[in-house]
Amino acid sequence: MDKKKQIVMSGIRPTGFLHLGNYFGAVRNYVRLQQEYSCFFMVADLHSLTTHPDTSSLKGHVYRVLSENIACGLDPEQAVLYCQSHVPETAELYLYLNMLAYVGELEKTVTFKEKVRLHPDNVNAGLLTYPVLQTADIILHRAALVPVGKDQEQHLEMARNFVNRFNHRYGEIFPEPQAFNFGEELIKVPSLDGTGKMSKSENQYATLYLADSDELIKKKIMRAKTDAGPAAPFAEKPDYIVNLFQLMQLVSEPSTLSQFETAYNDCTIRYGDMKSQLAADMIKFIAPIREKALLLQQDSAYLQKVMEAGAQKARESARETLRLVKEAMGLNYY
Ligand code: TRP
Repeated sequence: MDKKKQIVMSGIRPTGFLHLGNYFGAVRNYVRLQQEYSCFFMVADLHSLTTHPDTSSLKGHVYRVLSENIACGLDPEQAVLYCQSHVPETAELYLYLNMLAYVGELEKTVTFKEKVRLHPDNVNAGLLTYPVLQTADIILHRAALVPVGKDQEQHLEMARNFVNRFNHRYGEIFPEPQAFNFGEELIKVPSLDGTGKMSKSENQYATLYLADSDELIKKKIMRAKTDAGPAAPFAEKPDYIVNLFQLMQLVSEPSTLSQFETAYNDCTIRYGDMKSQLAADMIKFIAPIREKALLLQQDSAYLQKVMEAGAQKARESARETLRLVKEAMGLNYY
């Protein structure tokens, strides 16, 4: 089957800054997918209302997230890039789907329980039905492939349940959405403090953001934990050293990496030198993205044009889906 006919859809939350983990875990896959599939990438501003009721900085966040993703290579000419609230058909489909979602299953969602624990004073109905809105996003374009990380697997499982209920009750309209990752290889981007992955919630020096200045990148890398070096040739690497090598593998030349591997194995490695080299290569990688994103962010006329064109294409696809939905549901009285 022609891949261009297969529909890929994903949503990007307009909260926080893009970090290296997002880049290698998500955005880079979007950039590859857009060439081969029919892609919809959406800024999930409505979803952000479930946890961020203060909207005073929302516009800035939406502009930034768009700019950062375009700077990373998302191409509004190749993929449909739009903002969720610009496509009101999303809300209509969400309403229909809400009648197919049971309160009991929604209450059991891991992300819901986590948010209840974090914000016990704002357990709103939107939070409960977050996975329903996410399902609406996906099936609005009748997408079957959803490039997302592991943390979204339960939401996708719920999406499949809602889709199956709809199809069973009203007629086969929607394909079952599946989590999708380019080439199956999920790249792990380790944090700089030797524990876990790079993520938003870690301590501020453990995560490299695509908006970080050259000085800050250098400072974060130079602070990463090391030790006195291997005590014997071909010693096993401790976790925090493995992490440095993994980061180097992402942004440095293969010859640089093998040079430090050799130095490690014959115990001549100097971690200060390794970190300086990693910092230099990381800066070479991040600086052009940061600068491009900054320029785009200041060009609101361009961003508005991108959003408008994206919304138009997304609404076209959405209207056709809703026509089918209403017909199947018997809501076509005229
Ligand atoms: N819930 C997703 C996240 O937290 C964002 C999202 C919203 C999404 N709508 C989507 C992802 C549709 C995939 C498909 O990252």
